[in-house]
Amino acid sequence: MRSSRTTVGIHDLSFATTEFVLPHTALAGHHGTEIAKYHVGIGQRAMSVPALDEDIVTLAAAAAAPVVARHGAERIRTVLLATESSVDQAKSAAVYVHALLGLPAAARAVELKQACYGATAALQLAVALVHRDPAQRVLVIASDVSKYELDSPGEATQGAAAAAMLIGPDPALVRVEEPSGLHTADVMDFWRPNYRDAALVDGPTSVTAYLRAVEAAWTDYREHGGRKLDEFAALCYHQPFTRMAFKAHRHLLNVLGHDPDPDGIARAVGPTTAYNSVVGNSYTASLYLGLASLLDQADDLTGRPVGFLSYGSGSVAEFFAGTVAPGYRDHLRTAAHREAVARRQPLDYAGYRALHEQTFPVDGGDHPVPPQTTGPFRLAALRGHKRIYEARSEQRSVRTAGQ
Ligand code: HMG
Repeated sequence: MRSSRTTVGIHDLSFATTEFVLPHTALAGHHGTEIAKYHVGIGQRAMSVPALDEDIVTLAAAAAAPVVARHGAERIRTVLLATESSVDQAKSAAVYVHALLGLPAAARAVELKQACYGATAALQLAVALVHRDPAQRVLVIASDVSKYELDSPGEATQGAAAAAMLIGPDPALVRVEEPSGLHTADVMDFWRPNYRDAALVDGPTSVTAYLRAVEAAWTDYREHGGRKLDEFAALCYHQPFTRMAFKAHRHLLNVLGHDPDPDGIARAVGPTTAYNSVVGNSYTASLYLGLASLLDQADDLTGRPVGFLSYGSGSVAEFFAGTVAPGYRDHLRTAAHREAVARRQPLDYAGYRALHEQTFPVDGGDHPVPPQTTGPFRLAALRGHKRIYEARSEQRSVRTAGQ
């Protein structure tokens, strides 16, 4: 079933995260929770927290700017931005990002949503577009801010990040294979009505729904001629919290009657968790931060198949495979990724709480947003119900957006 057509896949991968970080020690101190619950029980050590002047647009532009700088904008004819923390019900965040990056006007720019699964839909659409016209490149960006109620069980699993991928022929990083295993089931495990900025979640139902979806997507993948599980060098699972990836792999091994040996599970999944354990849930970006972690951390993966399990509550799941391209290590952004994580300013609990509770006026007046972020793009103002974005001075070649 694996196609002999032109190979298409991920040619470049870059992620960005927020200005601030809250260590889980601060959250544990506030709640009186044993730190082992966070560090071991859910596998999280810290969460990225956006500054007032950061959102999914600024994160997306920050993730994608290095990709455009390296490869040029000329052949990008499509920008697909996946998010479930959208800033507008009509205008796509992809259009703001297209402007901030100075991409050609002869392009389409669209936003996609299906919880944490959206970026995988965007990736598969991009692969299909490049198969149709191998001369074009597609910029796929996953960008999300995960926000739950203060003092709720979900609070410890918040986070924020964006991952940008350039999809093209003869990719430098990962060749995306056919087939895909697919699964959709109407489940109310996690959702966010339009009038809320924090998600609603039934935690135990969401974990069960995720595990069922893993099983169903895998079964469909195999029925469509996919690889056997033992062919994979590593498995990238969606990581709402990193322990979930270990649970998912153990579940799959159990279902298939394989030995759920903890060391084997750690070898298959552990290298995918380095970034997510300190960034938190970046929703649809999380799977691709998992890939970045794997490529940046693992021993040489040249020619090795990697499995991807994308899950988005609600729910949709997809299992697909990719093969790591020869020479991929020359194209990684390991130093920049480590810097994105290391440069964040630590918050104490009170500082985090103040940011969490902050809301913007909705009166349509002229409201400058206080500068907090030191990143390349910022939300500068709300004016006449418009969001006004700007690039910092060292990015003079890129424009403002939203005016
Ligand atoms: P909770 O009630 O805070 O925690 O909810 P818990 O009591 O279930 O404990 C969590 C784990 O820590 C357990 O391990 C405990 O045993 C362990 P498990 O039994 O599951 O293996 N634990 C400890 N371990 C060591 N030392 C200790 C200790 N104490 C406890 N002292 C929950 C946890 C994940 C449910 C909560 O954080 C939550 O609701 N999170 C949000 C929902 C979520 O992340 N769901 C995941 C699946 S759905 C999904 O992935 C989609 C999503 O990303 C959204 C989208 O698609 O857009 C969420």
